[in-house]
Amino acid sequence: MDLSGKVAVVTGAGRGLGRAYAEALAAAGAAVVVNDVDADAAAQVVEAVTGDGGRARSVVAPVGSAEVADRLVATAVKEFGRLDVMVTNAGILRDRVLWKMSDDDFDAVIDVHLRGTFTCARAAAIRMREQGSGGRLILISSPAGQRGNFGQTNYAAAKAGIVAMARTWALELARANITVNAVVPVAATEMTKTIPVFAPIIEESERTGKPFPGWLRRDEGLGTVEDVAGLVVFLASDASAEVTGQAIGIGGDRLALWSHPGEKAVAFADGGWTAGTIAASWQSGVGADPETYGIPAPKVPASDVQGV
Ligand SMILES: NC(=O)c1ccc[n+]([C@@H]2O[C@H](COP(=O)([O-])OP(=O)(O)OC[C@H]3O[C@@H](n4cnc5c(N)ncnc54)[C@H](O)[C@@H]3O)[C@@H](O)[C@H]2O)c1
Repeated sequence: MDLSGKVAVVTGAGRGLGRAYAEALAAAGAAVVVNDVDADAAAQVVEAVTGDGGRARSVVAPVGSAEVADRLVATAVKEFGRLDVMVTNAGILRDRVLWKMSDDDFDAVIDVHLRGTFTCARAAAIRMREQGSGGRLILISSPAGQRGNFGQTNYAAAKAGIVAMARTWALELARANITVNAVVPVAATEMTKTIPVFAPIIEESERTGKPFPGWLRRDEGLGTVEDVAGLVVFLASDASAEVTGQAIGIGGDRLALWSHPGEKAVAFADGGWTAGTIAASWQSGVGADPETYGIPAPKVPASDVQGV
């Protein structure tokens, strides 16, 4: 994949998945604006990229506001002359069950993920439309946003909203040749280390250098951050010109297309439905095969239960 001449912004690129995206985009030839709230982490990424012969600049600022989004785009234009790719990756968790979730927990997560994706994508779309040569908006969602997840009211709402925005913007930006896709990643990072079932396996692998077990990579789709970066490079490239409005899962050995929500079962009643007719027909009608909800619990093989 050759991204030479292209310019990308990656938010939350100081560590974890964002860092892997920034480094992979730069390795493919793109100039990269590395954003993070952690100045040291962002500086390290810029150093790593430039040390490998790539081009990168950091912008240390909290994604969320329109001002920060404008700064990111302005930096891409000032330092590298244009903007082709916006990857909205910055994120935080504030997990609590609904009845314990504070307004601050809710707002903080919505602000970084949902508002940050909106403001950064809007600033990028304005610039890309002015340039008139298309572009790529690569939004980062999560399995939690597709299925719901215990303790993640704020995060699941934001990540579901991000996919809805991708589908909306794919429509709105098609004429400008700007593709918009959502990535649904899974990878071992500081964030996934907070998930109790994965924590011991990730820590053991870090300690011993042993690769993750095959079942984790295939069935749970959990691997390294580098396993995810190839999808972002593909979506940034000319090879994905026809791919838009999609939610694409990746992690470990898995690559997946998430389905678009649609009507699964439909029934009709002449003149409309009442509570009584819905109740009478529910079990044998549209409710006969209800949808699942929540991320299924990992099936850990007996041989690995010790570690979990
Ligand atoms: N790791 C996974 O398996 C997984 C799964 C699904 C979705 N995601 C999503 O992928 C993205 C990256 O996740 P990760 O696991 O690498 O997390 P991480 O916590 O390792 O990295 C997140 C980075 O974002 C930065 N950040 C936080 N708030 C910011 C802000 N307001 N502005 C700029 N930077 C900010 C952090 O400093 C950090 O460097 C997130 O959007 C996350 O929700 C991750």
